[in-house]
Amino acid sequence: AATALALSVTAHVAAADTAGCDDGETVIKFAHVTNTDKHPKGIAAEMLKERVNEEMEGKACMEVYPNSTLYNDDQVLEAMLQGDVQLAAPSLSKFETFTKQFRLFDLPFMFKNIEAVDAFQQSDAGQAMLDSMQKRGLQGLAYWHNGMKQMSANKPLIMPEDAQGLKFRVQPSDVLVAQMEAIGGSPQKMAFSEVYGALQQGVVDGQENTWSNIYGQKFFEVQDGTTETNHGVIDYLVVASVDWLDSLDEDVRDQFTTILNEVSQERNAAVNEVDMEARQAILDAGAEIRELDADQRQAWVDAMKPVWEQFTADVGQENIDAAQAINA
Ligand code: LMR
Repeated sequence: AATALALSVTAHVAAADTAGCDDGETVIKFAHVTNTDKHPKGIAAEMLKERVNEEMEGKACMEVYPNSTLYNDDQVLEAMLQGDVQLAAPSLSKFETFTKQFRLFDLPFMFKNIEAVDAFQQSDAGQAMLDSMQKRGLQGLAYWHNGMKQMSANKPLIMPEDAQGLKFRVQPSDVLVAQMEAIGGSPQKMAFSEVYGALQQGVVDGQENTWSNIYGQKFFEVQDGTTETNHGVIDYLVVASVDWLDSLDEDVRDQFTTILNEVSQERNAAVNEVDMEARQAILDAGAEIRELDADQRQAWVDAMKPVWEQFTADVGQENIDAAQAINA
């Protein structure tokens, strides 16, 4: 009886997971970590799901699990290689154990805005990076934008010295560790879903993230304010496993990647709007946003930019040069 119960529980969970899917359809589970409202990734994922489910009816069926409800970013790529999830869109900072090439995007003040990030990604060098993890079993399918990062803490951050001695949550990226050390902070790698609690309980004092993430996770509730530094970027790689892509019928794979590319273009073009909406929503909630004057901002550049030297070998001087030419 115990076995029968266990089996029926498993069957029930499996059925619930694939509730909207018909027999014979390729099930595409898409796990991500952000919210869906006023968030570039959340909105793009929902749009992708709607289009796949409408246009590929009978062939494929997509389910989206937002808010880390299925996996954290630090688990999702392993789960993908196991075949437990088919699609994910972790930030480019979360691929370090697979490739060091994306470290370029974490280097502070490398890109002045998302348009520059986009131009680099669309270049031959950027497109080649999509294939950089094939040997590790992962295929990049598209870049999705989020926005520029801002800094917050439990005290005002105006000059880089204000960060001295503070504990900062960072994504699992050695570049971001080096960046926080460069301003005298003490960085701690942590999953996205744990950041609010860690800020609230004082496990860490501060963090860096985009307006949509600061709004979506309500970090502003447990921080003194946010400083508009625009010092780095958070951008995503929509990724699948090589094995899963190979297992698809060609027409299914082609239709799916065509829809994905169209959604990517449409949502990437609208990303600044979503970013500004989230920023405004933070102000509307009564939270403080601090702007820097030119001299103050230059002090952050001077403090953080020396970090580039440590990672030039990983990312390639030619990629740094290409990114800087785009920025000019
Ligand atoms: C983070 O961990 O801060 C971000 O990568 C979360 C996300 O997916 O935007």
